[in-house]
Amino acid sequence: MDTHSRRSFLKLACAGTGLLALAPYSSFLLAENRQAMPFGNAFVVPPLDQGLRQGKQVRFVLNMQQGKMAFLPGMETPTLGINAPYSGPVLHARKGDDVSLQVNNRTEEASILHWHGFRLPAVMDGGPHQSIPPGGSWTARFEVRQDASTCWYHSHQHNQTGQQVYRGLAGMFIIDDDRIGTLDIPSRYGVDDLPVIIQDRDFNADGSFRYISMMPERMHGKHGSTILVNGVVTPTLQAQSTLLRLRVLNGSNARIYKLAFHDNRAFQVIASDGGFLPQAATVRQLVLAPGERAELLVDVADRKAIVLKSLRGAIVANDGMMGGMMARMMGNMGFDQELDILRIDASQAETSSHRRPQALIRPTLLNPRDARLSRTIQISMGMMGGGMMMGGMMNRRGGGMDGMFTINGKAFDMDRIDFEAKRDTPEIWEVSNDSPMQHPFHIHNVQFQILERNGRGVAAHETGLKDTVLVNPNETVRLLMVFQHYSDGHTPYMYHCHNLEHEDQGMMGQFVVV
Ligand code: C2O
Ligand code: CU
Ligand code: CU
Repeated sequence: MDTHSRRSFLKLACAGTGLLALAPYSSFLLAENRQAMPFGNAFVVPPLDQGLRQGKQVRFVLNMQQGKMAFLPGMETPTLGINAPYSGPVLHARKGDDVSLQVNNRTEEASILHWHGFRLPAVMDGGPHQSIPPGGSWTARFEVRQDASTCWYHSHQHNQTGQQVYRGLAGMFIIDDDRIGTLDIPSRYGVDDLPVIIQDRDFNADGSFRYISMMPERMHGKHGSTILVNGVVTPTLQAQSTLLRLRVLNGSNARIYKLAFHDNRAFQVIASDGGFLPQAATVRQLVLAPGERAELLVDVADRKAIVLKSLRGAIVANDGMMGGMMARMMGNMGFDQELDILRIDASQAETSSHRRPQALIRPTLLNPRDARLSRTIQISMGMMGGGMMMGGMMNRRGGGMDGMFTINGKAFDMDRIDFEAKRDTPEIWEVSNDSPMQHPFHIHNVQFQILERNGRGVAAHETGLKDTVLVNPNETVRLLMVFQHYSDGHTPYMYHCHNLEHEDQGMMGQFVVV
């Protein structure tokens, strides 16, 4: 069979008998061709892990392990997971809890889990300095100080974060607090309050994950053409309620999504990385970069079937020569294509008792006038500055690009502390991007406010607390923050680009709080 008749055959097989019918024919097929039935998979709600609770003490046991998952029909993909073959449980704790998270590394490689979005002691952060050897264990203990929010956890192994997250070492971490009960919003986990972890993957013909295979994937970060939602290829969610709260996490290594529904319906953004927005923001599109979270309220009272998509135009390159070249290259590589993510079938939905809120719970915000100092953070791609871009890249042996990804002119060094911050002293970071592509900039141990983008105020959905901000080419974002509660002159926290390939190649620095 040629490719075309193979595809038509697939369609027929699917239409008649469902996906199982594909299995016997699997040997004909390349992995890429195995998505003939879009939305044929059911949405999966990851298990909720509330730990073992005694009063305010909550204990979690997390086993990092190797596994196998059938993402594609008739194919097994070797994976990594946490208490599961791929990915991990959705952890749940409350503000004020004392959590302990025992992480057992049952894989064959050194690894570590980082608690992304949390304010915690540096030694509990789960950064590269807390790496766990194969067979080893490490326990993080800290008080949950966040307001209700959607955080996450993922591998942060030095130089290996990209490939370990790609294979599955990531999950969601939900925080609740006492005030949330006063809000009339959907909050039944798995019913009308749903985690939506979006990741993009490529597969080899044998079903294994295809991580970086060529130079542009190093430069732009690994993008894949198959979308997983909670570890399932473009699933269908049977909505149980006419108002859905989707906790969307961009858990992808590098892909930026421009989220929208196929019918362009409006939806509300009620929370960003660090919790609720001051006010719900009604939008039709939302750009979400790797590491960022957004809680969305989606009204499906019309009981239609809708598709959550990523639209073209998520990629912004600067308009100089380099930027034009970069944009074309990324377009050609499929880094900015339109993609289907999730279908929501509301035909069976029950009428929700919740209404779309206007007022939310106001986050505690700082006053910029209280800032005591400001820092300059310059994100660069070393070889791109002058006219040497192509020459510089091509001359590098073995496709490596060490020294290319820098912050303030330096690539990451585990043994170098880049600066000290003072506890309880508000500061402003001015983060500039002089490279031709976008970078999602993340800071550990803090939830900051975005004051300005290039001197202008930010859109409503960016007025809440954040720990990751997408910085466009030729853009300077001003961030206001304070490091509270903890100081430790020896153990650093990280700040870095959350494009994991950029991070692994050096676009990261570290600071201590004293
Ligand atoms: Cu989500 Cu330093 O990471
Ligand atoms: Cu983090
Ligand atoms: Cu980057």
